[in-house]
Amino acid sequence: MNKTKPDHYAVMGNPIAHSKSPQIHKQFAEQTEQELVYDKLKVETADFASAVASFYNTNGKGLNITVPLKEEAFQLATNLTERARRAGAVNTLLLNAENNYTGDNTDGIGLVRDLTENHHTELKNKDILILGAGGAVRGILEPFIQQQPKRLVIANRTLSRAQKLADDFSDIANIEVFEFAQLADQQFDIIINGTSASLSGELPPLPENLLKANSTTYDMMYGKDDTPFMSWSKDNNATMVIDGLGMLVEQAAESFYCWRKVRPETQKVIKAIRDSL
Ligand code: ATR
Repeated sequence: MNKTKPDHYAVMGNPIAHSKSPQIHKQFAEQTEQELVYDKLKVETADFASAVASFYNTNGKGLNITVPLKEEAFQLATNLTERARRAGAVNTLLLNAENNYTGDNTDGIGLVRDLTENHHTELKNKDILILGAGGAVRGILEPFIQQQPKRLVIANRTLSRAQKLADDFSDIANIEVFEFAQLADQQFDIIINGTSASLSGELPPLPENLLKANSTTYDMMYGKDDTPFMSWSKDNNATMVIDGLGMLVEQAAESFYCWRKVRPETQKVIKAIRDSL
């Protein structure tokens, strides 16, 4: 009997050994009864374009792209979704009927869904502070702006990078920019940590009394233990303190939806990945 091969997907990055994407997509596939395989591929930056071409030439159906290749994928894509164009980075590649690569970015919608759906935290009409002005923050801004916060502030160690972001999004949002020290006397409903400080066990220098009553804080990083920003949030009486694991699963779910047109249920997968940390 002629058995058709399952559709092939993969994540490309470097390093890639610790990627949880294969685990996540395997659970999505089982849950939605989709026949597919999902691999992780370590790819050097110089080899990226040829690795993508050979993946699709051997019947690959879709790719996730992670650090440090998201900007390379942005360059490679022939078509871009609006959220990917704004992000300047691509984490999802689809090959369309004309054999062109469409680049999408599901990171921002992943974060928004984790906040609004999994944690019932509305962003509309809220005073929101985002810490950091690097690639991670640029990647999430467009879907965030779509939620219509009342105030959107970016604070960064290097003010010029925050100003560049505000300028690049000035046609769709009025983003205010500050250095950390200038945040004294300001208060927010929601604070998102998009700096990479947690990676090195550090915390941006935040003033006290930065949180309003009923506040939510979100660290885009995650791990087995609280990040320094999560500990700071608890010490400063945040009502809800969230890490980035839900964002990871939600961005994967949105990619899965782009490829398969079926939306997986994420709560159980988030729990399973949490238990495996
Ligand atoms: P990513 O892709 O993770 O966004 P990036 O583009 O290098 O990486 O950006 C890292 C962000 O974390 C920047 O906003 C950086 O601040 P600067 O622009 O001033 O460099 C911020 N960051 C990193 N370590 C930090 C620390 N210890 N305290 C405060 N901000 C930090």
